[in-house]
Amino acid sequence: MYTLKEGIDFYIEPMQNKKVTVFDTTLRDGEQTPGVSLTSSQKLEIARQLDKLGVDIIEAGFPISSEGDKESVKSISNAGLDTTVCGLARVLKKDIDACFESDVGLVHTFVPTSDVQRIYTIKKSQEEVIQLAVEAVQYIKDHGLKCMFSAMDATRTDPAYLIEVFKAVQEAGCDIINVPDTVGVMVPSAMYRQIKDIAAEITIPIDVHCHNDFGLAVANSLMAVEAGASQVQVTINGIGERAGNADLAQTVMSLTSIYGAKTNIRTEYLVETSKMVENYTGIRLPPNTPVVGQNAFSHESGIHSQGVLEKSDTFEPGIMTPEMVGHRRRIVLGKHTGKHAVKQSLESAGIKTSDKQLDEIVLRIKEIANKGKQITDADLYAVASAVLGKASSDEELIKLKEVSVMTGNIITPTAVVKADIEGKEIIAARTGVGPVDAALHAVRDILGESNHFKLQDFRIDAITGGADALADVYIGLENEKGRIVTARSANPDIVMASVEALVNAMNLLYKREEREEKS
Ligand code: KIV
Ligand code: ZN
Repeated sequence: MYTLKEGIDFYIEPMQNKKVTVFDTTLRDGEQTPGVSLTSSQKLEIARQLDKLGVDIIEAGFPISSEGDKESVKSISNAGLDTTVCGLARVLKKDIDACFESDVGLVHTFVPTSDVQRIYTIKKSQEEVIQLAVEAVQYIKDHGLKCMFSAMDATRTDPAYLIEVFKAVQEAGCDIINVPDTVGVMVPSAMYRQIKDIAAEITIPIDVHCHNDFGLAVANSLMAVEAGASQVQVTINGIGERAGNADLAQTVMSLTSIYGAKTNIRTEYLVETSKMVENYTGIRLPPNTPVVGQNAFSHESGIHSQGVLEKSDTFEPGIMTPEMVGHRRRIVLGKHTGKHAVKQSLESAGIKTSDKQLDEIVLRIKEIANKGKQITDADLYAVASAVLGKASSDEELIKLKEVSVMTGNIITPTAVVKADIEGKEIIAARTGVGPVDAALHAVRDILGESNHFKLQDFRIDAITGGADALADVYIGLENEKGRIVTARSANPDIVMASVEALVNAMNLLYKREEREEKS
């Protein structure tokens, strides 16, 4: 890999030998995201994925909060994962017992220490809080478990009192202390100073838990590590209470790629993990989300895409490549696209053009983009076919004949699809969680054994408001060689729009494979 740190080398504090532990709280703080509720089986699946990703600790839930949460934490504890499973507990015996009953390897116990939370929530004196914290730590240690203690709202706590609390729990045998920026009010320089001050007084490892109320959670976590913290609390896609927590992918990639620190994260699974959490939580990421977002390695402008096609480091960080995070570089066609990028896209599909034909294609592509439409591969090939004088529909392998769906409150959504494949009529029927899901499964089934495609992207937009809105479905399909094609269809019927878009994408991918085999 080409490492490029020129410029920043002079200003950052390198951490080549620093090992940072990654504590993931997607299943606890992340699940507290307003509107998010995960089933136990989704939580278990996410936990397995986090284990595959290499996180050191999974905070699996808050066992005392409900029987369901306790059972879910227990099933994750007993799933045979390599990672340590942690449960959250207030400084109360019943909470800690619920963690023991959930078979966790680490208990994370917390109590508010700031005046505002101490006075208005638990209504205890400073001395009572220290006593509760010490008793909780001793209780956990007496049961032979590892213990992490959080001084909730630490960043708004009187600094001298905070040190007093941390010293008391350290004395009681606590293994690690956590400094939560509970309402996300820190700025990086303040975080640096606070952690430096704590590190000067405390000998056990320091962890930080930063909330993102001002969009500074990742920056504050990095500063904490610079100042001496050795563990970061993060979530997938930065989900969590209110504006969320520090994002795992952004924190880990900054720590490793910029600072040179080490973590156990297998970064190539970052995108895959982000997608799973996006699907299960229903919280969609903006396309410009760093590291894992749809546009993180996409280029449209002529200057940028030409530069990137010559050498990717021209308009990418270089120290972080798409491959490192399980992403893909994409040259997106749009109104800023240059001739070079269009030529490259056509050539990668085996389409050769003269200079004049290419000029014409670029012109038409820009005309479509100027109408505010995102250009898909299907659009590009349709334009190219028209300019090259080919009838593209003749090349379709799959010709859709009939689609019917049944759905309702007392039947399982079922779809039947009839299509013509190379002159043979094929029928497939499938059920699904909804009519679109059933229809897409049925379309894939009509290909039988040859269905080796992975649905990489699926988006539905309502083009106009109202119940009669036109559904615009955009699909990205990937084959075994990692080739992706994009296609779309618009139809007032959402099932038809989805089916047509998928069939378009499948036909394109087949066409591309055929062309590649010939060339
Ligand atoms: O934000 C917070 O303070 C928390 C604690 C439980 C660590 O989530
Ligand atoms: Zn929190």
